[in-house]
Amino acid sequence: MQFVSEDIEQYCKDYSISDSDLLKELSKITWETEEIPQMLCGSLVGGFLQMLIKISGAKRVLEIGMFTGYSTLKMAEALPANGEIHSCELMEKHINTAKGWFEKSNMKHKITIHQGKAIQSLENFRVSSFDLMFVDADKTGYPEYYRKGTMLLKKDGIAVFDNMLWSGSV
Ligand SMILES: C[S@@+](CC[C@H](N)C(=O)[O-])C[C@H]1O[C@@H](n2cnc3c(N)ncnc32)[C@H](O)[C@@H]1O
Repeated sequence: MQFVSEDIEQYCKDYSISDSDLLKELSKITWETEEIPQMLCGSLVGGFLQMLIKISGAKRVLEIGMFTGYSTLKMAEALPANGEIHSCELMEKHINTAKGWFEKSNMKHKITIHQGKAIQSLENFRVSSFDLMFVDADKTGYPEYYRKGTMLLKKDGIAVFDNMLWSGSV
């Protein structure tokens, strides 16, 4: 289901801050080489995440679902120099691809990858230690990511769940 018309989406893209050259390249190659490139959250969601990080002053971010690293790198760009993003990803293939992009960026020092099932990786983090979390992985896991993930957020931390109205489902 197309919620927003293509014209409106294009208008929003035209009047939003565009991606860095590296993120544009990452998106292009992901669309050319990956089987399900539409898993990328895209520049509008990415820009929204950047705005949340900047206006809240977030320093520590938790991500569930990294794929080729677009949203990870996008959020890393908005974090301060001493900021950290911890990203959980199951598939080794995606981790290797994402690492290649992080190597090319000057954000690598901010990014830590946690390989494996996210629900297990969450056990390794301290309670109340993150300012923001972005959940964008297996949808059946969302209730548990909500329960466990929000415990990991500081008071007034922000939780963002992608695809909550996925294909018209609520
Ligand atoms: C929608 S994609 C993430 C897209 C990414 N946030 C972006 O915007 O570029 C979902 C990712 O979650 C990963 N994933 C699926 N189930 C997982 C699980 N149980 N634990 C960790 N990662 C998982 C998939 O391998 C996939 O790379």
